[in-house]
Amino acid sequence: MSLLDGQTALVTGAGGGIGRSIALRFAQEGAAVALHCRTALARTRELAARIEESGGRAVVLRADLTDEDACRRVVGEAAEWGGGLHALVNNAGVQPTRELPGMTAVEWRAVVDTNLSSVFACTQAAAEVMRERGGGSVTHIASIEGRQPAALHAHYSASKAAVVMHARAAALEYGACGIRVNTVSPGLIRRDGLERAWPEGVRRWQEAVPLGRLGRAEDVGDACVFLASRLASWVTGHDLVVDGGVTARPTW
Ligand SMILES: NC(=O)c1ccc[n+]([C@@H]2O[C@H](COP(=O)([O-])OP(=O)(O)OC[C@H]3O[C@@H](n4cnc5c(N)ncnc54)[C@H](OP(=O)(O)O)[C@@H]3O)[C@@H](O)[C@H]2O)c1
Repeated sequence: MSLLDGQTALVTGAGGGIGRSIALRFAQEGAAVALHCRTALARTRELAARIEESGGRAVVLRADLTDEDACRRVVGEAAEWGGGLHALVNNAGVQPTRELPGMTAVEWRAVVDTNLSSVFACTQAAAEVMRERGGGSVTHIASIEGRQPAALHAHYSASKAAVVMHARAAALEYGACGIRVNTVSPGLIRRDGLERAWPEGVRRWQEAVPLGRLGRAEDVGDACVFLASRLASWVTGHDLVVDGGVTARPTW
C-alpha cells in the first residue's frame, strides 16, 4: 500500500518548480491531486496528463490566490472533484528582491498577500471541508529565510516567518478536529539556470552546506509526502527544515 492511497490533495502553484515535484510525489504515493496554477496553464495541464498516463488522477484548477474568494473557490472545487479533501499543500509563492529603503507598500503587500494571506484563506477553507470528514493535513512551504533573513528579501523573509507561526497557531486551533498543520522550510533548491543567474550565491551555498549539494525539488516533495502520511499522524505545529544542514552551521 502506498503512503497516500485514498487521499485527495490540493497543491497550490503546481506548475512551478517545487510544486510540480510535490504533486508528482503525491501522485506516486497514490493521491488524487488537484493541481492549482495561476498563469502556467499549459505546463500544469502537461503535468496532469503525465499523472494520468501513469494511472493516477489529476485535475487542473486556476486561481489568483491574492484574491480571498478565489482561494475559497479553488479549495471548494478541489473538494468537489475529489469527493473531499485530505491534504492541502500551500506552495504558491513569490520571491522578488527589493531593498527596504525603496520598497513601496504595494510591493510589500504583493508579497504578503501571495505568501501569507493566501495561506490563511486556503487553510481556513480547507479546514472547513476537512473537519466534516474527521481531519486532514495542511503543509505550508516556508523557507529557511524565515529564520535567517537574506539581503533584499525583508518582505519575503517576514512572510515566511509568519507562515511558520500561522502553522503553529493553526495546529493549536485545529488539532481537536484532527487537522494537522506543519511547515516545510527548504534551503536553496536547484532550478534550471540558477548557476548562471546567481553564480556567487550557488558558490557560497556549496561552501556552507554540510551535505555538499543544492536541494532538489524532490527533497521538498518527500518531506510533504511524509507530513501528509500516516507516518506523521502525531506530528503537528512542526517546521521541517530541508536544507542539507546549512542552518546547523554557526553564523558567527
Ligand atoms: N526555490 C527555492 O530555492 C525555494 C526555497 C525555499 C522556499 N521556496 C518556496 O517554495 C515555493 C515554490 O517556489 P518555486 O521555487 O517552485 O517557485 P516558482 O517556480 O516561481 O513557483 C511559484 C508558484 O507560485 C504560483 N504563484 C505565484 N503567485 C501566485 C498568485 N498570486 N496566485 C496563485 N499562484 C501564484 C505560480 O503560479 P503560476 O506560475 O501558475 O503563475 C508558481 O506555480 C514558494 O513558496 C517559495 O517561496 C523556494
